[in-house]
Amino acid sequence: MTATPPAENLKEVESVAATAGDRFDEVFKHAVAARGFMPDEEGQALFLHARRCGADGPDGPWLEVGSYCGKSACYLGAAAEHDGRQLFALDHHRGSEENQPGWEYHESDLVDPAIGRIDTLPEFRRTIHAAGLEGTVVALVGDSVSVAAVWRTPLSLLFIDGGHGPEPAHGDYEGWVPHLAVGGLLLIHDVFPNPVDGGRPPFEIWSRAVNSGVFRQVDAVGSLRILRRTGEGI
Ligand SMILES: C[S@@+](CC[C@H](N)C(=O)[O-])C[C@H]1O[C@@H](n2cnc3c(N)ncnc32)[C@H](O)[C@@H]1O
Repeated sequence: MTATPPAENLKEVESVAATAGDRFDEVFKHAVAARGFMPDEEGQALFLHARRCGADGPDGPWLEVGSYCGKSACYLGAAAEHDGRQLFALDHHRGSEENQPGWEYHESDLVDPAIGRIDTLPEFRRTIHAAGLEGTVVALVGDSVSVAAVWRTPLSLLFIDGGHGPEPAHGDYEGWVPHLAVGGLLLIHDVFPNPVDGGRPPFEIWSRAVNSGVFRQVDAVGSLRILRRTGEGI
């Protein structure tokens, strides 16, 4: 496995960003300020690999599963905007298990008082609007597996950061990976090889990709894994 030292990635992010002037700086500021679960260093790696995919990846839109309040969508959206791609940001906006009341990552101000359930869509829309990415990032509101079942367009980039339980994580993998074109990038978040660091399902789907024989890992930054599709299949 290749794991780029964070400082190397950071240097490259800075030099890529410098060539595009103030626009990346502006979007990055919104990404850092956005609520969510993407450490800066991993967000920068997301951006960097998306930029590479925009330059030499296959044709087609990009899709992320799990947008929450729009943090990762800003990093991916900055790259998508630069390369004239479209990013579909898919989330039912009701939060994952760990976002529900009584769980570790619950944020009570994100509960819609009218229905007593989490609704991250308004905050997501504020984030994307503030970052000036409304022309690039298209919100898809619904259940991941249901949308995947009717999706028909080959993807150039797929970022999986949805539900982290066994059923949603494997559902995301089985539903969306078949839509990723050969040569495209698969990015998986919250992959923890050591169970004491975090839950197993993202690690399990990463293992499926690595053992499938149709993905090659190109980088690893924190809990983010970046793989390129080298053949058909899952
Ligand atoms: C870890 S958060 C995403 C964090 C986000 N990428 C960021 O940068 O902050 C996971 C998200 O997946 C969404 N989610 C969980 N299960 C889902 C499902 N079956 N379909 C659609 N979205 C789902 C949740 O609503 C939640 O917003």
